[in-house]
Amino acid sequence: MEREEVAVRHVMERYPATRTNLLEILHEIQRAEPRHYLSEASLQAVAEYLRMPLAEVMDAASFYSMYSLTPRGRHVVRVCVSPPCRLFGGEALLKALKERLGVEVGQTTADGAFTLETSSCLGACGNAPALMIDGELFDDVTDAKAAEIIYRVRREDATR
Ligand code: FES
Repeated sequence: MEREEVAVRHVMERYPATRTNLLEILHEIQRAEPRHYLSEASLQAVAEYLRMPLAEVMDAASFYSMYSLTPRGRHVVRVCVSPPCRLFGGEALLKALKERLGVEVGQTTADGAFTLETSSCLGACGNAPALMIDGELFDDVTDAKAAEIIYRVRREDATR
């Protein structure tokens, strides 16, 4: 059994095999995958485990923007582009991050460290603009604060 298959089985065993657990299982599998995505093999395994048609599992995985069907960088930066964040500097923040990382939205840095994505509301509208890195939420994000966060993540990577 391949490592990916073992990891997928390990996640699924923690959930009863009912379709109501689909989104949570997909979330856990993606989180456990080093490239933060859902492979075709993992979607197939989930479909078999939940006894659902693969097309339904694919529908869910491709509908929600939090899931990715293609490999991403070691860290995923998601910048909120919903209206409150856009009004309070989200567009400028996104532009600054594109320049800082040298990528467009949906791309991964050449060193494989960061994938830049946009997101709908992250639930921090009162302290816009907001972004999320690897599931950790940051609000009131300025260009300087974003630079510090990126620097910190790079430094943590270097010490691993
Ligand atoms: S609109 Fe950006 S966090 Fe809600």
